[in-house]
Amino acid sequence: MTAQTPSSLSSAAWEQRYQEGTPRWDLGQPAPAFQSLLTAADAPQPGRAIALGAGRGHDAIFFAQQGFEVTAVDFAPSPIQSLREQSQAQQLSLNLLQKDIFDLTPDLAGQFDYAIEHTCFCAIDPSLRPDYVALVADLLVPKGELLAVFFTHQRSGGPPFGTAPAEVRQLFEPYFDIVTLEPVANSVPSRHGEEHFGRLRRR
Ligand SMILES: C[S@@+](CC[C@H](N)C(=O)[O-])C[C@H]1O[C@@H](n2cnc3c(N)ncnc32)[C@H](O)[C@@H]1O
Repeated sequence: MTAQTPSSLSSAAWEQRYQEGTPRWDLGQPAPAFQSLLTAADAPQPGRAIALGAGRGHDAIFFAQQGFEVTAVDFAPSPIQSLREQSQAQQLSLNLLQKDIFDLTPDLAGQFDYAIEHTCFCAIDPSLRPDYVALVADLLVPKGELLAVFFTHQRSGGPPFGTAPAEVRQLFEPYFDIVTLEPVANSVPSRHGEEHFGRLRRR
């Protein structure tokens, strides 16, 4: 399946944003919600994880540091190159794929215990959200988990295209049990009150 996207959401457009300078979505650190998750008493056990729209890969690197076997995917070349350099500098072994997420299956179907979502869902055309949900469902093993930081802002337009907990439930519930879907308490200041952390288990 190849997604049809408006030109502003193409790989070339995202690459241009990276080339133009520091991307405004790039936190320069893992999402605080993931830091809390992996240091919590009920932290998920390390396993095979795929980071979708990984960007420069602060989350992917963090999960790899915590013992996860990470595949990071982005269709823009610059962030993948940056991720390659960072992982080599830290002597971490990540599988890096410069690819459209919607072209990952069927090859990688059922290969992952976890999918990692952080501002990829809000970066794709909202009309593709049902395809995104089906993709994540396909990538995961049964009982595999989507670990997600959803950008739940309510401004019009995008990217980033906001979502709401009700939409997340409506889209994912056909395939997933919602283990957790709650406001993030420790967002960076610029995203305060506009993020929900989700832990969604594939049926
Ligand atoms: C807002 S950025 C987020 C990057 C990273 N997750 C972060 O939080 O810093 C969205 C990323 O998704 C990538 N992306 C968007 N649509 C994609 C697609 N269909 N396939 C692969 N990557 C995609 C973009 O190139 C960009 O790096």
